[in-house]
Amino acid sequence: MSILVFGSSGQVAQSLLDTQPTDLNPLYADRATCDLAEPGQVADLLAREKPQVIINAAAYTQVDKAEEEPELAHRVNCDAVAEMARYASEEDAQLIHISTDFVFDGRKTAPYQPGDPTGPLGEYGDSKLAGEQAALQSAPESTMIIRTAWVYSEHGSNFVKTMLRLMAERDELGVVNDQRGAPTYARGLAEVIWQIITDSLFQPGIYHWTDQAEISWHEFALAIQEEGGRAGLLDRSIPVNPIPTEAYPTPAARPAYSVLDTSKLANLLGIEPVPWRDNLRLMLSRFAK
Ligand SMILES: NC(=O)c1ccc[n+]([C@@H]2O[C@H](COP(=O)([O-])OP(=O)(O)OC[C@H]3O[C@@H](n4cnc5c(N)ncnc54)[C@H](OP(=O)(O)O)[C@@H]3O)[C@@H](O)[C@H]2O)c1
Repeated sequence: MSILVFGSSGQVAQSLLDTQPTDLNPLYADRATCDLAEPGQVADLLAREKPQVIINAAAYTQVDKAEEEPELAHRVNCDAVAEMARYASEEDAQLIHISTDFVFDGRKTAPYQPGDPTGPLGEYGDSKLAGEQAALQSAPESTMIIRTAWVYSEHGSNFVKTMLRLMAERDELGVVNDQRGAPTYARGLAEVIWQIITDSLFQPGIYHWTDQAEISWHEFALAIQEEGGRAGLLDRSIPVNPIPTEAYPTPAARPAYSVLDTSKLANLLGIEPVPWRDNLRLMLSRFAK
């Protein structure tokens, strides 16, 4: 089976590489091979490689910077995805596309279902939603969208690694406690993607996947300090104070609540999401090696 992964240097793509089944030999396309911001490059690469499965783990992911460059975010997160979907539809290939909790406005107080109304609060969420819609419009039978949230891993930059750095550098930290969601260890998401492929479970539609959680960033930070200490990554403990979102203004607004209901994908795969703290411990033990 020929598989092409977009986004080779990213957290999810690196985790796909870490967990790749030995009998598969995917091609990982980096920015030098294919710049998603350049119209036609995706279509050209797909026409050359003719994959049967596309995993799109590439995205313009800078949530705040997207407010300054919405056109670039739209080209990478929507137009390039539309090229993937056109190929998938024409060649009867499968497109597994990763999306985000930021398609929602965060006004709900119970976990978001895949079919719930969307309402992105910023340009990043807007461009990701446009990408979902373009894919579903061009290739409704060939697109599987997996929305995820609060992604962290040993790779790249993410909240866990930023917290570990700040906890080593500073004497005190403030972390928002009025945004609630669920972290996702990228390795767990990667394993889910491989299971879809290896067990032939591809089913078009929108799905959600995160670790099992409903926590605030502040609770996440406290756990990172505790588990980071246990893993030998921190040699002291500093006060981590809860703060409201207004005390940490950012160019792009974030959803106040973005827990995703994962049961549709869990039922399809016959698995349950891992409790968030178990995955945090696992990631930190790997990171400490
Ligand atoms: N990170 C999160 O918290 C989070 C939350 C919810 C959903 N998601 C979604 O999960 C997916 C994977 O996220 P991630 O955390 O793995 O992202 P990431 O670590 O930021 O990686 C993004 C990848 O996209 C590539 N990319 C960006 N612009 C490109 C371009 N113009 N041409 C080619 N490649 C380009 C990057 O390449 P370079 O290294 O060359 O820049 C990188 O490989 C994305 O769809 C994202 O929207 C992430």
